[in-house]
Amino acid sequence: MDRRNIEANPLLEQFSSYLSKIDEYLARELDLYSWSEFYTPLRYASEGGKRIRPLILVLSAETILANKHSNIDITEDMFLASCAIELLHTQSVIHDDIIDKEDYRRGKPSFHIKYGYNSSILTADFVLGIILSICTKINNAKVSAELSTAAIKMSEGEMMEIKLTKDPYLKEDDYIKVVEHKTASLFEAAAKIGSLLGGGMDEEICAMGSFGHLLGIAYQIHDDIMDWNNEDRLFNILVRNNKESAEFIDRMEQLFISYSSKAKNELKKINDSVSKKHLEHLTDLTFLQF
Ligand code: IPE
Ligand code: MG
Repeated sequence: MDRRNIEANPLLEQFSSYLSKIDEYLARELDLYSWSEFYTPLRYASEGGKRIRPLILVLSAETILANKHSNIDITEDMFLASCAIELLHTQSVIHDDIIDKEDYRRGKPSFHIKYGYNSSILTADFVLGIILSICTKINNAKVSAELSTAAIKMSEGEMMEIKLTKDPYLKEDDYIKVVEHKTASLFEAAAKIGSLLGGGMDEEICAMGSFGHLLGIAYQIHDDIMDWNNEDRLFNILVRNNKESAEFIDRMEQLFISYSSKAKNELKKINDSVSKKHLEHLTDLTFLQF
């Protein structure tokens, strides 16, 4: 396996077989639109992501299936749902890079830099259409409801963040609330949908949902600690408000570790299996710089 690829995505080393299957399904879904003006931009928008959210979905599904001692094969619907999750992330990133004025993503120009603002608005709309089409194929109201909740929370989170950047009384709790909406909601949906499609019982779906939620918070805090460049981001405003003190960053690092271990604690509510070990390992990997 190419070292450079592993450095770009540390998940590859351990999870390459899952990731190539996810990418295969994603390419298949996008290829349905090869006739469209949006096809090439869409491919650009979806390239190079680490695919952590779809990976959480399929591993959660597998963990639940392993619990039931049934066939642990990942089904077509699970892969389709993982595409929907990744595409919801894709469209949010297109808009987020405009809001955050980020010129680069994944080592290449951001979508709006390459294709312009109008294309960005319309491509993200188009992606929402694809997600609806995938929902129709899965034909499961609970799965659609989870995707819808995540989409609503993500937009709410972005809006809250915009408002809070102008708030002179910004607090750490506000920041966490934004993170819960804009990032953790999709991680939570991924884990819940995986458990739902795996046929999990309510308590299992709930524990897995909390796992996703807590991991999502940890993931975003870690991402913010790693990237201080953007001065408009909430986290960086907090850094400045705290006079760029090392003590504040240390506290945020502790917070990240605490959310990571809380996430792992949720997994303790679910029977042990190789798939569950994978989810634990995935949680540990968020400690790496990626
Ligand atoms: C970026 O997410 C935005 C955050 C919520 C931190 P990722 O780091 O998962 O983005 P890609 O898809 O792997 O580039
Ligand atoms: Mg942003």
